[in-house]
Amino acid sequence: NFQNRIQYLKDSVAAVKDFPQEGILFRDITTLLEDPKALKDTIDLLYDVYKDEKIDYIAAADARGFIFGCALAYKIGCGLVLVRKKGKLPRETISQDYDLEYGKNTLEICKGSLKKGDNVLLLDDLLATGGTAGAMIKLVEKSGANIVSFAFIIELFDLGGAKRIKDTYGIDSFSLISFP
Ligand code: PRP
Ligand code: ADE
Ligand code: MG
Repeated sequence: NFQNRIQYLKDSVAAVKDFPQEGILFRDITTLLEDPKALKDTIDLLYDVYKDEKIDYIAAADARGFIFGCALAYKIGCGLVLVRKKGKLPRETISQDYDLEYGKNTLEICKGSLKKGDNVLLLDDLLATGGTAGAMIKLVEKSGANIVSFAFIIELFDLGGAKRIKDTYGIDSFSLISFP
């Protein structure tokens, strides 16, 4: 059943203390990806959540969001827009600075990839503070596209990211797995 499937996914994520810096409990998805059953079920469960929504594009975050974003876009039959770390996209970009749980960075999308009226599902592997997600929302909003929802594989609940996204941008998020 559903709860067993979610528990299986939770158990497939490794927990690593003090990475990348002291005090951070790092939730490592490489072990989930290495398990064929967990990888397949992650995509199948996300697909079930969004299969009846009208989605033109998934916009996924560099780097770990790309892995799940591409598989889900393939299954949904929509396009994939890459939200990349600064300096990687060759054409003209829109960019946005942000803070994350353990640092700061800049994200970019290609100007013109998303147009007014496009229905976009945002996706990343993990929601911590919501800094990355906030930057993605700002980028997509600048393009005039419509945000359907924000999907995550993992949410670190106690960091309050989902509430921040809802309160700041009015956007609902969905996470398959939640850790404290
Ligand atoms: C990680 C993770 C999320 C983000 C979440 O990405 O993949 O994108 O942090 O943290 P936040 O909610 O506090 O913003 P990171 O930039 O560390 O690296 P990646 O390139 O491996 O995805
Ligand atoms: N990104 C931000 N915080 C993280 C954490 N605790 N584990 C894995 N990825 C993260
Ligand atoms: Mg990331």
